[in-house]
Amino acid sequence: MSEMRYLSLAKRCALKAGEILREGFNRPKHIEYKGMGDPVTEFDRRSEDLIVGMIRERFPDHAILAEESTDVKSSSGVRWIIDPLDGTVNFTHSVPLIAVSIAAEVDGRIAAGVIYNPILNDLYEAAEGHGAYHNGRRIRVSAIDTPAKSLVITGFPYRRDRVEEVISPMRLFIEKYEAFRRLGSAAVDMAYIAAGKGEGFYEEGLKPWDTAAGCVIVREAGGIVTDFYGNEYRPENRTILACNPAIHPLMMEVLKNVPEPE
Ligand code: IPD
Ligand code: CA
Ligand code: CA
Repeated sequence: MSEMRYLSLAKRCALKAGEILREGFNRPKHIEYKGMGDPVTEFDRRSEDLIVGMIRERFPDHAILAEESTDVKSSSGVRWIIDPLDGTVNFTHSVPLIAVSIAAEVDGRIAAGVIYNPILNDLYEAAEGHGAYHNGRRIRVSAIDTPAKSLVITGFPYRRDRVEEVISPMRLFIEKYEAFRRLGSAAVDMAYIAAGKGEGFYEEGLKPWDTAAGCVIVREAGGIVTDFYGNEYRPENRTILACNPAIHPLMMEVLKNVPEPE
C-alpha cells in the first residue's frame, strides 16, 4: 500500500505548491529564459524548493528528479518525478491552464501521481490499482470511438527544427477529427484525457516531469499510454500518445509515420 502513502504526500505537496503559484499568477513576474520559448520564473523555483523540501523531510533516502535542477540519485527503488509548474508560458501570460505535477515511481513503474491546477482548483490523482479521481470523483476516459467525434490535444516542441515533422500529422488530425487543441500544459492535457474531455493527446520532445503523473492518471482512468510507435510508456521516451482505448490505434496509425526525434 506504499502507493497510497506516496499519493497522500504528493497531494499535500501539490496543494501547498499551488498556494505559491496562485500568489504569483496575477502579479508581474521576473522571467528568465532557459531557451527560446522556455521561460522560468521565481515561482517555478519556489514551488520546486517547497515540494523537494517536503519530500526530503519525509523520505530522505528517495531519489528526486525535478525540472528546475534537482536530480538526487538513490538506490531506494523510489524516484519522485516533479514538474513544479507545468505551463510556464501560460503562467507568464496569465492563462489559467497550468499545473503542479508530481509522480512517485517505484521499481520503474509509476505508482502514484497528482496533477493540480491551483487556479481552477482542479485536482486529479491516481494510485496504481486504485482508480483515477478528479476533485474526489472517479473519472474514466471517454467511450467515443470515431475520429469525427474526437477532440485531439497536442503540444509543440520547444525545438524549432522539427516544424515539418510536427505539421504533417497535424494536417491529418485537422482533416479527419472533430477538433484539435493546443492547451499549453502537457499535465493538464493528460488529466483532460483521463477525465474524458478529449479522446487523445500526443506530443514529442516532452520530459519525464511533463508526463509521469499523467501516465498513471490516464491508465487508472482506463486509457492507454505508449509512445508514437506503440512501445510501453517510459518517462524518458521521446514521444507520447495517451488516448481512450478505441482512439489509440487510430491515432497511432498516423503517428507511427513520424520519424522519432533524436
Ligand atoms: C511545457 C508544457 C507544454 C509542452 C512543453 C513543455 P513547462 O512544460 O507542458 O504544454 O508543450 O513541451 O515543456 O516548460 O511549462 O513546464
Ligand atoms: Ca513541463
Ligand atoms: Ca515546468
